[in-house]
Amino acid sequence: MNNIPKKYYIANWKMYQSFAAIKKFIITCSHDQDWKELIKGSYVGIAASYEHLYYVQKKLDKFGLHTGAQDCSAFLQGAYTGQVSIESLQEMKLDFCIIGHSEVRRELGQTDMLIASKFKMLLAANISPILCIGETLAQRNDEMTLQVLYDQLEQVLNFLQSYSGTTQIFIAYEPVYSIGSGIVPSTQDLEHIFSFLYKLVQQVPVAKNVMFLYGGSVSSKTVQQLQNIDEISGFLIGKASIDFQELKKIVQSDGGMV
Ligand code: PGA
Repeated sequence: MNNIPKKYYIANWKMYQSFAAIKKFIITCSHDQDWKELIKGSYVGIAASYEHLYYVQKKLDKFGLHTGAQDCSAFLQGAYTGQVSIESLQEMKLDFCIIGHSEVRRELGQTDMLIASKFKMLLAANISPILCIGETLAQRNDEMTLQVLYDQLEQVLNFLQSYSGTTQIFIAYEPVYSIGSGIVPSTQDLEHIFSFLYKLVQQVPVAKNVMFLYGGSVSSKTVQQLQNIDEISGFLIGKASIDFQELKKIVQSDGGMV
């Protein structure tokens, strides 16, 4: 497995919170005595929605938290109402950007080709892409999991064959049926899937810069089971991450460092 010094916790705040709720999170974090010590050696990131990004970044930077976006446009600039360019994310000095989340694939019909072009553009801008992949329950029941994951990764892996940059890359395996359901795949299933992903990624020259995350119903209750899988360097955490105390418990139960 990778020789990784850090454990990664990425909070995907989705569209869960009002501005008032975010302020409350920040106040609780700022009053917490052990937080900074707890996350030493770990990487904790908040993927906030666009309208909250600037505020979250300004307020949480001093508590050792990184900030990123939940998606980006595949266009450079121009007449694209409602979209947000990678250039803007770069100007804000964001650290990472989630792409290909199953909710975005589902709601906005984004294809693997579109997601792969965002991936390339993010790397060109030195923003770490967090590429989400995952199968639906029907695909899993049809024993299509590995094929689906391969298809979702293929174009990105082809591109990475000739990429030699140093930007950190994340691949987040998030089984669709696990998101928000409280269901986490068995350790045996996860070992099988992550070892498949790990082997695939070893074929690209920058394999050592690729970290694997697991996402889907990560909480302080499920995190211990997930700790035992060698290839997992961290977690993409949805619902559980909007409550500061629960996020803290996840980091605590997981032990921070790998
Ligand atoms: P969840 O979401 O932790 O609420 O299941 C994870 C995700 O969608 O990234």
